[in-house]
Amino acid sequence: MRLMIAFTTIAAAAAAALALSIFAARASADGLNKSASTGLYWSTAKEEGDLVAKADAAGDSSLLWDDDDENHRDFDAGGFSSLDGMLQWAIGHSDPSKLKEAVKDVQRLSPDELKKRHMEIKELMEKLKMPSDAQLMRIAIDDLKNSSLPSEDRLRALEELSTLVEPIDNANELHKLGGLIIVIKQLNHPEQEVRTASALILGKACQNNPVVQKQVLELDALAKLIKMARSEFVEEAIKALFAVSALIRNNFVGQELFYAEAGELMIQDILSNSSIDIRIQKKSVLLVADLAECQLENGSNPEPLFFHNRFFLRSVVDLLASVDLDLQEKALYAVKNLLQLRTEALVFKEFCGLDAALEKMRQQLQQLVMEENDSEYAKDVETLRGEVERIFIGKLNKDTQFPT
Ligand SMILES: *[C@@H]1O[C@H](CO)[C@@H](O)[C@H](O)[C@H]1NC(C)=O
Ligand SMILES: *[C@@H]1O[C@H](CO)[C@@H](O)[C@H](O)[C@H]1NC(C)=O
Ligand SMILES: *[C@@H]1O[C@H](CO)[C@@H](O)[C@H](O)[C@H]1NC(C)=O
Ligand SMILES: *[C@@H]1O[C@H](CO)[C@@H](O)[C@H](O)[C@H]1NC(C)=O
Repeated sequence: MRLMIAFTTIAAAAAAALALSIFAARASADGLNKSASTGLYWSTAKEEGDLVAKADAAGDSSLLWDDDDENHRDFDAGGFSSLDGMLQWAIGHSDPSKLKEAVKDVQRLSPDELKKRHMEIKELMEKLKMPSDAQLMRIAIDDLKNSSLPSEDRLRALEELSTLVEPIDNANELHKLGGLIIVIKQLNHPEQEVRTASALILGKACQNNPVVQKQVLELDALAKLIKMARSEFVEEAIKALFAVSALIRNNFVGQELFYAEAGELMIQDILSNSSIDIRIQKKSVLLVADLAECQLENGSNPEPLFFHNRFFLRSVVDLLASVDLDLQEKALYAVKNLLQLRTEALVFKEFCGLDAALEKMRQQLQQLVMEENDSEYAKDVETLRGEVERIFIGKLNKDTQFPT
């Protein structure tokens, strides 16, 4: 019973701490709701009935623990490693309306009072030991290893891991905890949602993280992710493309593997198929822009044949005629990078029809600006279009002066 009171206190303290940080960041109440829906849940399949379900149903963090010793033991062994971990935990377990109240309370405090309260909360949190992120990851990973775990629990464990791997230190721990292997295994799960959630975790863990990129590449996950990017399930394809992009971004080993696995064919098929979901096309064309940019930054590396494939180049240029301004902009950006590689300008002109496409786009953008429809955005895109046109003309002039 004593412990239960402590939990209620800590939950309130956490709410106040959260309010403090929100106050400091001047975030809106909407932001709060958003965090609440993506927050962490303390989960272990074994205790689910006792803990999370009750807390969810009642929306009250004091119900998270009952008097059962079994439940307290895990808690006693724990400890949040950081203020962030604590806050995330609290968000996941608190009633959003109560948190909002707490925010209001805190907003009435003076800066000195705020500072004092911040210190108090910190002290309180240091005294109370809460589960660390590593412990939470271990629990989720253990759940995933359980082959008789119901899908619902499996998905929840994946969702938790997905949030947990966002801080780079946690992502770096994932492999040591056996997490990468088990998550990669889930890419073959019969249920699409499980595969999708697993791809998302891999993408998040790899993002701007050469250490995890290397680990995932060594575990041979790339080929599977490339296959998944062709999935008939849109979400699965999107998350797989996200993971592929995160895995090979600024990573030449990854890019070589990508070409070895015919990743470029996957992209080409997506770009040239007009019945494919536009979000998948956007992700793919961004990946092209990214690969070309990486190549530009490292000019000494031989250019993959992919960048000189006329059919591929045409599939990118064709997207300039899309009805979606955002996709057009992304395609422009890709064309801008591709033009700066070694392919002859005449290929863009004669085979891809780039000059006609740019002219058509110019007229369309002019129209949008005149109609004052999305006009600021249209102006920005026109600026980029003009830049692409100048690069293109420059390249054409250079190629005719010094033919290769
Ligand atoms: C695996 O999950 C099932 C269903 O939730 C549970 O009954 C069982 O205890 C779990 N096994 C382990 C080893 O945790
Ligand atoms: C680009 O090339 C340089 C020198 O060849 C190398 O040091 C650098 O790591 C390369 N960049 C990437 C992203 O591999
Ligand atoms: C184009 O995409 C649709 C939708 O994903 C798919 O059903 C169709 O097979 C694709 N067509 C080709 C030629 O790949
Ligand atoms: C303006 O844009 C909206 C949405 O982008 C579109 O529905 C509407 O038809 C456009 N109006 C004109 C005059 O183009």
